[in-house]
Amino acid sequence: MYLQRRNRILRQSPAIRAMVAETVLTPNDFIVPLFIDEGKGVKIEISSMPGYFRQSIDGTIAEVKELWSLGIKSVLLFVKSKDELKDNTGKEAWNPDGLMQRSIKAIKEAVPEIIVMTDVALDPYSIYGHDGIVENGEIVNDPTVEALIKMSLSHAAAGADWVAPSDMMDGRIGAIRQAFEGEGYTRTGIMAYSAKYASCFYGPFRDALDSAPGFGDKKTYQMDPANRTEAIKEAMMDVEEGADIVMVKPALPYLDIIREVKNAVQVPVSAYNISGEYALVKAAAKMGWINEEKAIIETLTSIKRAGADLIATYFAKDAAKLLNH
Ligand code: PBG
Repeated sequence: MYLQRRNRILRQSPAIRAMVAETVLTPNDFIVPLFIDEGKGVKIEISSMPGYFRQSIDGTIAEVKELWSLGIKSVLLFVKSKDELKDNTGKEAWNPDGLMQRSIKAIKEAVPEIIVMTDVALDPYSIYGHDGIVENGEIVNDPTVEALIKMSLSHAAAGADWVAPSDMMDGRIGAIRQAFEGEGYTRTGIMAYSAKYASCFYGPFRDALDSAPGFGDKKTYQMDPANRTEAIKEAMMDVEEGADIVMVKPALPYLDIIREVKNAVQVPVSAYNISGEYALVKAAAKMGWINEEKAIIETLTSIKRAGADLIATYFAKDAAKLLNH
């Protein structure tokens, strides 16, 4: 057979495949979500996230040291607030001695160079498990933005390098940026959860923080999985309002959105490989239906190939070990 082009020439050995690989994962790509609990020596496995834990600050610090030693540059903090601290204002969210604020300080003290990002939304502090303030069954936008400003300022004051608003209220990125400028936080970054979809794949995360909505769903603020153009609008508006990084979430069911957002904006794009995506891989691996290590690398490579510069993922530690070996 005479062929002018033989595409398999570029695939014939590990060496040539490595030379022409278009997408290369590194531990620099990962943002590690951490679930933090009150107490000492607390380490609780999340039942729907096998191998992932909620830990008290002491254990979290040991974990962060290990992550840093593996080459990981960033952690994203979530706290489990006590039930008695929850209300409909979210005021525990800006308590200077709250669990989040203490965690930020402790981590920055232990590993000053690691980039500490914090989740900004009211759900862990809301008696209703919603990301905002509830009035007459409605999640009200503007009062919620006021609360998110206080929350963001308190994280910055505690030493957070970045805030990551995950609430999907309108106008919050601009408002937080303005507040940071007003208070002199000119080095604090904003990673906006810009295109965050109303996804069923958040289930295990809500188990981890006991933060499932008490009534209704999140469809009046999180996006409809049917929509694409709206994601571009959200991302572009967040960039205009001052976001330094924009995020698409979840990742795997939204790879097309990651690519379109990447093509539309001139800031780094992150994607959140969320709890339900982690659970899918873990469950299939446990059943012996897939090879977990290969599934992790293939999954993360697909997200980066789609256009994500950064990936928040519960597989970060495993992946870093696989990549470093
Ligand atoms: C809360 C928040 C959620 C996640 C990150 N921040 C859940 C939600 O919106 O209900 C999900 C993360 C995951 O599922 O891994 N605002």
